[in-house]
Amino acid sequence: MDYEVRGASSGKTARIDGSFEVPGDKSISHRALIFSSVANGISEIDGISTGADVKSTMSCLKHLGVRIDNADGIIKVCGKGKYSFSSPSEVLDAGNSGTTMRLLTGVLAGQKFECTINGDETLRKRPMQRIIDPLSQMGANIVPSYNMTAPLKIFASDRLHGIRYELPLPSAQVKSAVLLAGMFAEGETTVVEAVESRDHTERMLKLKKVKTASGFETQISCDYAVEPMEYDIAGDISSAAFFLAAAAILPDSSVTAVGVTLNPTRAGFLDVLVMMGAKVEIGNICEAANEPIGDVTVSHSELNGVEIKGELIPRLIDELPMIGVMAAFAKGETVVHDAHDLRRKESDRIVAVVDNLEAMGAEVEELDDGFIVNGTGNLNGNKIDSYKDHRVAMAFAIAGLAAHGTTVIKNSEWAQISFPEFFSTLEKLVGRR
Ligand code: S3P
Repeated sequence: MDYEVRGASSGKTARIDGSFEVPGDKSISHRALIFSSVANGISEIDGISTGADVKSTMSCLKHLGVRIDNADGIIKVCGKGKYSFSSPSEVLDAGNSGTTMRLLTGVLAGQKFECTINGDETLRKRPMQRIIDPLSQMGANIVPSYNMTAPLKIFASDRLHGIRYELPLPSAQVKSAVLLAGMFAEGETTVVEAVESRDHTERMLKLKKVKTASGFETQISCDYAVEPMEYDIAGDISSAAFFLAAAAILPDSSVTAVGVTLNPTRAGFLDVLVMMGAKVEIGNICEAANEPIGDVTVSHSELNGVEIKGELIPRLIDELPMIGVMAAFAKGETVVHDAHDLRRKESDRIVAVVDNLEAMGAEVEELDDGFIVNGTGNLNGNKIDSYKDHRVAMAFAIAGLAAHGTTVIKNSEWAQISFPEFFSTLEKLVGRR
């Protein structure tokens, strides 16, 4: 479906204003479902993500025999322990969701039955060697398709054994897959990460994490039993980022994202807003489900180009398409490095950002591990490809608001992967002056 965004025309520019809510955090929602399904007892999840990715996790778990009910928006998961899954009668479908496939494979590696997990055309191209390597070292028997991709056939395991695994790249999905398999493995399983990735698994399972000379070490063992929980899931900062960025770049704009996750391993985008010179205020800080949350207000101001690299990258990896667009409106150069993995997301997001910005007239250069944008403050409306990638569709809808003329987002429906309410929220917040 094409979505038409009106930018500046006849001397009038778009502005955005008001408070908004976003769907529950996607990363936390997947984990709440998966962890509750292997807990012993009934867990309740409030504020679960409305996105299609989380629906994929729910559907896979139901096919594994887990009872999940929706009681007036509260999701009740009836967990019966680590070995209570039943052999699914069909191939599990993770849809577009890398988190579903990688985390569930960690749990399925320890089960006593054989099953297959597959995904859509995009997910079938994404790298799975990163989980197959450590899980195989633990004794799992996983047979991928051509080129180490899905479908993954996961055979029954006799008994996994614990390993010490140094993550070759900062990835919360790989870390979580290994830790989940560790619940089924003899002895201790330790994951070591040189650069910290999002830590929702550790927080939600209350795992101990220590800082050592090699980095951050998290341990789990086969004695670990997941407790049933009441999860109150806050709004997804990665979804809020689109409108916070819009307020930063559109003159006369100010918006407040109400009740979003402020977990430091996820909040790199807010740090970048501040580095670029945006006005950012955080209020109503409290805690829910062991995660800090609060309201974030961003108002328009002049932005400057910045350098983004190193340890900051995993803290804002999903926000980089939006940062690329913001950079076109910042004075000077914005350089992104160390983001190779951006090429292995729902699309090659380096190509998507560079090609789309170029189509809108930006000065942009592709790097092997990122991009350089020379901010000119000007974009022109054009036909933009979403690359069947939710974050690209939404980032370029915001680009369209700030551009001259009209922008058409092709295949805009991909936004429903994480934020089905994105376009209605945009329409609610946008005005003209
Ligand atoms: C996620 C981890 C990140 C992120 C993805 C969600 C998670 O992926 O990009 O959207 O929930 O663990 P990687 O682990 O591949 O970096």
